[in-house]
Amino acid sequence: MKKNAWHFGLLAALLILPACDRQEEPPKEPAAVPQQQVQPVQPPMTSEQAMPPSGAMPMAESMAKGDIAVGEKVYNQACSSCHDEGISGAPKIGDSAAWAERIAKGMEALNKNSINGFTGETGMMPAKGGFSALSDDEVKAAVEYMVSQSK
Ligand code: HEC
Repeated sequence: MKKNAWHFGLLAALLILPACDRQEEPPKEPAAVPQQQVQPVQPPMTSEQAMPPSGAMPMAESMAKGDIAVGEKVYNQACSSCHDEGISGAPKIGDSAAWAERIAKGMEALNKNSINGFTGETGMMPAKGGFSALSDDEVKAAVEYMVSQSK
């Protein structure tokens, strides 16, 4: 029986030890997510909310209307090099005296001269400011912008 008792003791030890081990482990917290991490899912922005409040028109639509914003962009890219400072006889943007006579000719004439280029009393205006890749509408938008700034 001695042998059996020893066996029993060993068996008991084997059973109890892991049990004790388990008790020493820190109690397992329920896997609760802290409240502030659970955020309600935001609904995706509608296109209306994403639009700037000014109600700016999409580019294509603006172009068709010869929009001032398009004109300003074209002006800065293709026309400002001469017309900002009045280089080589170009009527300076914002100089209403320099523009009054030109504006009096009518937009039709200004557009035509800007698209085709012309040589006047003060200098030579290259066709489309030298940017032949510009469409006629883009040049017209730039003229529109220049005139609106020079009245
Ligand atoms: C290389 C310089 C130069 C660039 C670039 C240039 N211009 Fe001019 N532009 C002139 C000069 C010089 C005149 C004045 C010509 C004259 O009346 O003797 C002029 C005149 C004009 C006029 C008056 C036309 C008229 O009938 O009186 C308009 C409008 C104009 N430019 C628009 C534009 C636009 C739009 C652009 C850009 C797409 C542009 N220009 C780029 C030099 C330039």
